[in-house]
Amino acid sequence: FEGRRDNLWKYKECLPVDADKRVSLDEGGTPFCRCEKLGKELGIDLYVKVEGSNPTGSFKDRGMTIGMTKAMMLGVDTVGCASTGNTSASLAAYAARAGLRCAVFLPAGKVALGKLAQAMFHGAEVFSINGNFDEALEAMTQLAREKYLYLLNSINPFRLEGQKTIGYEIVHDLGWESPDRIVLPVGNAGNISAIWKGITEFHNAGFMDDVPMMTGIQAEGACPIANAYRDNTMDMVPVENPETIATAIRIGAPVSAVKALRAIYDSNGMAETVTDEEILAAQKLLARTEGVGVEPASAASIAGLKKLVEQGDVDKGERVVCVVTGHLLKDPNTAIDACVDPVQVDADIDKIKEILLNK
Ligand code: F0G
Repeated sequence: FEGRRDNLWKYKECLPVDADKRVSLDEGGTPFCRCEKLGKELGIDLYVKVEGSNPTGSFKDRGMTIGMTKAMMLGVDTVGCASTGNTSASLAAYAARAGLRCAVFLPAGKVALGKLAQAMFHGAEVFSINGNFDEALEAMTQLAREKYLYLLNSINPFRLEGQKTIGYEIVHDLGWESPDRIVLPVGNAGNISAIWKGITEFHNAGFMDDVPMMTGIQAEGACPIANAYRDNTMDMVPVENPETIATAIRIGAPVSAVKALRAIYDSNGMAETVTDEEILAAQKLLARTEGVGVEPASAASIAGLKKLVEQGDVDKGERVVCVVTGHLLKDPNTAIDACVDPVQVDADIDKIKEILLNK
């Protein structure tokens, strides 16, 4: 009888809200899995931090528990966000738990089915915006500025305070050591900034000697951060019409670009792009060699790592943690499209044997 799985509130001394008043669904404390087979293939020591195991299936819950607790402390009655899907799913669930009204803006036709189902089912007021995420966020931010609601996008610093615990937990999972590198997908750029904050806090506290190289991966069709990194500048130029199958990171003007680039430069990290084909191949590779099912955006981290290894940008034997940010079931359509149809057959053992033997 070892201790039960814990949650992120084990770090309550480092969180800027009153833990006794928390709005929580027992988030954090996610699985940390060594990927022996895939690591061997890549010539590195590979781990994944499985954020799809959070209550609503993505890392957003870590930010939302702190953000929603803050919202309650402030006494607001309505919360809102723009989202590519996961933030809205998480916000809807936490708002339900807190008993607050909730409005979400989603880019029409570009949100994966599981996420849309969550936002609707938890009772959020869902607006399908004729435009992309960046436009939806602009509109939502304006509503917040005019004090119609409390904004819970990652521009809200309390969201990042929750998400920084991914950095804490990775160091904790490794027995108070830093990995050589943390690789993760970058969309609105909140998460890479938050994890870097967690890492630097633990480093400054003397919990470990080194810090990891923060390595952000973007989809080729939505890569303003990777472009800025390539040009060795802090000035991000927005991408006008972002496009990728990884709808979670289909973002052209990330709000936390400056923080993200600072994390990358200060940690001697890097940013890289991957194609949709590379993302889908990596999603299947992780699912079939390691049994870890993640949504396409999350697989960008694996795809990017593979590319960096092939380019010689990652050293042999490096200890690398990929943050896989959302669950496979978030986007069932993309998963099914990537597979062959099931074999339909009568419950006739002879017929089934014949099929099995002929494979
Ligand atoms: N992975 C997943 C599964 C996501 O949902 C997101 C962002 C990211 C990675 C990128 O994180 O934005 O902090 O750089 N999803 C947001 C949303 C934008 O609305 O759900 P980021």
